[in-house]
Amino acid sequence: MCGIVGYTGAGHAAHILLDGLERLEYRGYDSAGICVSDGEKSHMLKALRVKGRLQALRDATDNGDSVDGESGIGHTRWATHGEPTVENAHPHLSGGGKVAVVHNGIIENYADLRKTLEGRGYVFQSETDTETIAHLLDYYDKGDPIDAIVRTVMHLRGSFALGILFADRPGEVYGIRRDSPLIAATSESGNFIASDVPAILEWTRNVTYLDNMEIVCLKKDGISFYNMDGEKIEKEFTTVSWDIAAAEKGGYAHFMLKEIHEQPKAMADTIHPHVRDGRIVLDELGMTDEEIRAVRRIQMVACGSAWHVCMTAKYVMEQLAGIPVDVDLASEFRYRNPVLEEGTLLMVVSQSGETADSLAALRYGKAQGMLSLAIVNVVGSSIAREADRVFYTAAGPEIAVATTKAYSTQLAACDMLAIHFASVKGKLSEEEYHTLVDALLKLPEQISEILRGEARMQWLAGKYANTRDAFFIGRGLDYASVLEGALKLKEISYIHAEAYAAGELKHGTISLIEKGSMVLAVATQSELLEKEVSNIVEVHARGATLLALTFEGNYNMEDQADFTIYIPKTEDVLYPSLVVIPLQLLAYYVSLSRGIDVDKPRNLAKSVTVE
Ligand code: M6R
Repeated sequence: MCGIVGYTGAGHAAHILLDGLERLEYRGYDSAGICVSDGEKSHMLKALRVKGRLQALRDATDNGDSVDGESGIGHTRWATHGEPTVENAHPHLSGGGKVAVVHNGIIENYADLRKTLEGRGYVFQSETDTETIAHLLDYYDKGDPIDAIVRTVMHLRGSFALGILFADRPGEVYGIRRDSPLIAATSESGNFIASDVPAILEWTRNVTYLDNMEIVCLKKDGISFYNMDGEKIEKEFTTVSWDIAAAEKGGYAHFMLKEIHEQPKAMADTIHPHVRDGRIVLDELGMTDEEIRAVRRIQMVACGSAWHVCMTAKYVMEQLAGIPVDVDLASEFRYRNPVLEEGTLLMVVSQSGETADSLAALRYGKAQGMLSLAIVNVVGSSIAREADRVFYTAAGPEIAVATTKAYSTQLAACDMLAIHFASVKGKLSEEEYHTLVDALLKLPEQISEILRGEARMQWLAGKYANTRDAFFIGRGLDYASVLEGALKLKEISYIHAEAYAAGELKHGTISLIEKGSMVLAVATQSELLEKEVSNIVEVHARGATLLALTFEGNYNMEDQADFTIYIPKTEDVLYPSLVVIPLQLLAYYVSLSRGIDVDKPRNLAKSVTVE
């Protein structure tokens, strides 16, 4: 949901801003812009904005060469208020060009603010909520930038991360955040603000995460921080473990393909640190056995693919640990007045740790007195900082909009929690426990094995790339897996895809099945195989082309299916980690065959920081 970057230092600002924005383009890509201060020369701010991808901005600025200056701000947009046009692209400047602003978030009271500002004579050039911020800053700027920022943000309702330039303060860049992410970073060649770590990795790994309502001032020779009383505050810097290679394609055609192939390592990096001498050790989580024993119910909340992880975790946790699990879409949870019994653990799953709905659900649950546990990939993100307990997945930076390795590592985290909770609650015999842990440890290698069969999935994708409708069916845990399979296909191939519990089809949806409909049936759950085969026969009899995904050795499936995909055998509860790999490959290659920009599908953004 929009990426912002700011820089001041000895370098050529436009080059640095463009490179930083390129690594944030996953956050939004319908328009882009930069604004650069030319220092003491003329005290002027020069802004350049384009509709479309960042490449258009590179073309318009001769790759940044044509824009001189050593400090500036940049933005890549996912439109909320106002269509993606040049006028609505950021940065927005105040009337006289005294102030420039880039913004990630939404200002909820912008219409009222706009009316007030128009009454004061300000003329608006765009339909955005952000332009009100530029004019407010201009209005309150009486020579003290911190004071102007404090007075401005006191009028803003909603969420924001801002990058700000004042024309009369060359060499300085300001930033502030509320409920949208903002980091500050320092290096020998200059100082930075950015929405996310990948933007600055080329220059530094020395970062600090701004808390809500903290103000940062970048100067060429240092960074300072202020609170809302205008007092200086100290911030601790940390070294991020991700390196620049993790944020680059490394020879792959797309980030998505690279991230699919990174899954064996991401899974191993997530699982191995928590397994010692054959036992799952979750010390870092800080949850005592007593706390675990006191958990009577679990409430899981998340969005999109992370919600599918929760759907999977429900089956696993209930089956292994016998703890009832409720799963809600984060955007629905707090508006349905949920009945939250004492002893309910709130679990939030989020790759970015910044998803607005998930963050709001976490805050709602905490306000009701619930103990919260977050499964998060991005260290220092809002959800990670606000949850009582955090389980970090070790997927590394995920750039492609369609999640793959973050999803897999979230599944692994949930599996480990379920096995651990089950063990603490005395629900597993030693033998069952070790069988599960051994199977868990084998998953990375089994994923590698599936990836070695990639060519087959590529061939299959080519065959079905022109399908109009696709139905994904499964029972039990396979139902949870097909939810993700269908989303993967539709979000990057634009093929209409639906996921159904296989037993549900005959209650309505089967009327959509006709000759040539593509049905992909996942069948891995031993106790449900026979029932699923009956469902498969039903759709096949109605003319559907049937693709089956099952475990090696279940060759009976070939009698029913037109094409069968095999995955290695594992424990029933762990199949989702293997099932998802061919489904990701299928979606990727279908998208590729259809000529779609796989990493940046239309209308989407990676990090959804608006509700
Ligand atoms: O960062 P989060 O895990 O909170 O994001 C949640 C969803 O927006 C995300 O999983 C989305 O559905 C995926 N990009 C789909 O591939």
